[in-house]
Amino acid sequence: MVDINTQISEINKKGFLDIEVNPALDLFKEIEILKKEKNAIILAHYYQEEDIQDIADYIGDSLGLAQQAEKTKADMIIFTGVHFMAETAKILNPQKKVILPDLKAGCSLSDSAPAELFKQFKNKYKDHTVVTYINCSTEMKALSDIICTSSNAKAIIDSLPVDEPIIFAPDKNLGAYLNKITGRNMKLWNGSCMVHEIFSLEKITKLKIRHPKAKFIAHPECEEHILALADYIGSTTGLLKFSQQDTSKEFIVATEAGIIHQMQKACPDKTFIPAPPNNSCACNNCPYMKLNTLEKLYISMKYELPEIIMDEDLRIAAKKPIDRMLEISRYYNL
Ligand code: 13P
Ligand code: SF4
Repeated sequence: MVDINTQISEINKKGFLDIEVNPALDLFKEIEILKKEKNAIILAHYYQEEDIQDIADYIGDSLGLAQQAEKTKADMIIFTGVHFMAETAKILNPQKKVILPDLKAGCSLSDSAPAELFKQFKNKYKDHTVVTYINCSTEMKALSDIICTSSNAKAIIDSLPVDEPIIFAPDKNLGAYLNKITGRNMKLWNGSCMVHEIFSLEKITKLKIRHPKAKFIAHPECEEHILALADYIGSTTGLLKFSQQDTSKEFIVATEAGIIHQMQKACPDKTFIPAPPNNSCACNNCPYMKLNTLEKLYISMKYELPEIIMDEDLRIAAKKPIDRMLEISRYYNL
């Protein structure tokens, strides 16, 4: 018998409901039943494990997921991604239950910008507009003027007057790339993603020599020397679309390896090679994204826990810059 009260207190320690799942259960079927019963929608990022991608109602990048969260009519959102993404869904849906299967699914990039330290940085540049990448905490969002994602960052920066001074946080790699393609001189916060900083220049160069016809495609969270080699740079959705539209048969992919599942599904006749990390670990798999499992997804739907809860004043403050992002994205049809 499951003692749910004990389990709830355990969530604080473990981040998830640690309830054993009968291995004989057909979880795909059970999750479908729960979806209907609870009028729930499963939103998944491309970096989720394959089973989760296969059962999700919508798979997308950070922008697509925020847009889906904004328009869903479901009563409950099961967010299979990381904490800042589920928080964004909650900010947009205060009346709905937003469930994250494992609350410890964080983000190294988001962690690299503690709101208290960022406040001091922002105070040094009082006349600057703050454009913040969505990979940040709700507290950081509340300190921002506009949120952006890797899909719409260029459009958002281009929408500001050319002489407007800007702070960009928290990703220094994306910020440097944006400075380059927009001709701005934004002040950059010194944060980064542990997954996108792991790629080995030497190994990618060797791979390119071995696969001379392969296109090298990269996410803009990668470091400058990696991006310098890329035939195409874009968000996860951008990379997926490029791999479908380009006539090449081989692609070396520099982002989290989960995206390859959708690439391969869309183009079974093409070859996708994950860009190698600089040691023999599996570090091109995001350890936070991969904390969500099919079992945790099932349990979290069944017990409707762990739930994203937030302070209402903070939510309202964080919603403003997200609404601005969604408005600009609608205007540019992104
Ligand atoms: P996008 O979803 O915008 O491609 O960003 C990738 C990422 O690192 C999400 O954590
Ligand atoms: Fe954060 Fe990087 Fe993982 Fe994305 S891949 S969730 S940016 S740590």
